[in-house]
Amino acid sequence: MRNFISVKDVSNINELVAKALSYKANPFADKALGSGKRIGLLFLNPSLRTRLSTQVAAQNLGLEPIVFNVDKDGWALEFEDGAIMSGNTVEHVKDAAPILGNYFDILCIRAFPTLRNKEEDYSEEVMHSFIKYAGVPIVSLESATLHPLQSLTDIITIKESQIKSKIENRRPKIVLTWAPHIKPLPQCVPNSFAEWINAWGEADFVITHPEDYELDEKFTEGATITTNQDEALKNADFVYVKNWSTYTDYGRIYTNDPAWMLNAKKMALTNNAKAMHCLPVRRNVELSDEVLDSENSIVTQQASNRVWAAQAVLSNILKSNS
Ligand code: CP
Repeated sequence: MRNFISVKDVSNINELVAKALSYKANPFADKALGSGKRIGLLFLNPSLRTRLSTQVAAQNLGLEPIVFNVDKDGWALEFEDGAIMSGNTVEHVKDAAPILGNYFDILCIRAFPTLRNKEEDYSEEVMHSFIKYAGVPIVSLESATLHPLQSLTDIITIKESQIKSKIENRRPKIVLTWAPHIKPLPQCVPNSFAEWINAWGEADFVITHPEDYELDEKFTEGATITTNQDEALKNADFVYVKNWSTYTDYGRIYTNDPAWMLNAKKMALTNNAKAMHCLPVRRNVELSDEVLDSENSIVTQQASNRVWAAQAVLSNILKSNS
């Protein structure tokens, strides 16, 4: 593995999941692997789980992590080729990325979409610019359209729950359901979750959302898609809850209908499903307290597994680029 910006960088999902679970059982098995190497974590946006889990994962592999809050402490970066830089941007990625590539052995970057220009956001200019100019492996800590470390974590958590519930030998029904939110949120998590579950191919996968909340088909193709949430939830083994803003008429909120919030009444339609969410979650807007605080919620386990997903990815990159 050279870079990790989508599921396309992974040759075998199940092998990566197994590796993550082996690190969970034995965190320091490869403590010498990253010895003498540095990893740079660049944040253009806030984070709790991604920032800390990736630092822990790096340290478990003997890497030295250095975090840089580009949005607060760095110069405003320009990404447009040929830009006349007479505006607010101070430094071109062409100049900054090779320097960072000299400081670090691996660069990890979080860069959310603007939600103002679909073509620009979906071109993934930030990730592709760093890949082009940094000269070292690039890991996405959530990009304009995808959150691959989260999706790998989600499959690890599903697999772990299947093993614990002794249902690993049958195809689970996984439902991704839209939920209300007060702000327009990116499509990264649902795009990525759909892309990974489809690529994994070991589940019956249903996506449910209100009318006009269709995601980009290039990620959802292969899933059953319905606007009937109750129908979708029937017999589900896993329910993944997430808000996203509209994709077609880009970055808008068309509805905030509280009837879409996942509560105990809706969970009763499922096959005693596990409830999942990437966090942070707006309690009693996206998911009710009664679900989040129930035994069916695996959100804490899911967030904890971020360490093992990051460790498996960094380990693969270190081994392939040594
Ligand atoms: N799920 C996730 O990426 O969390 P953070 O935004 O806190 O990193």
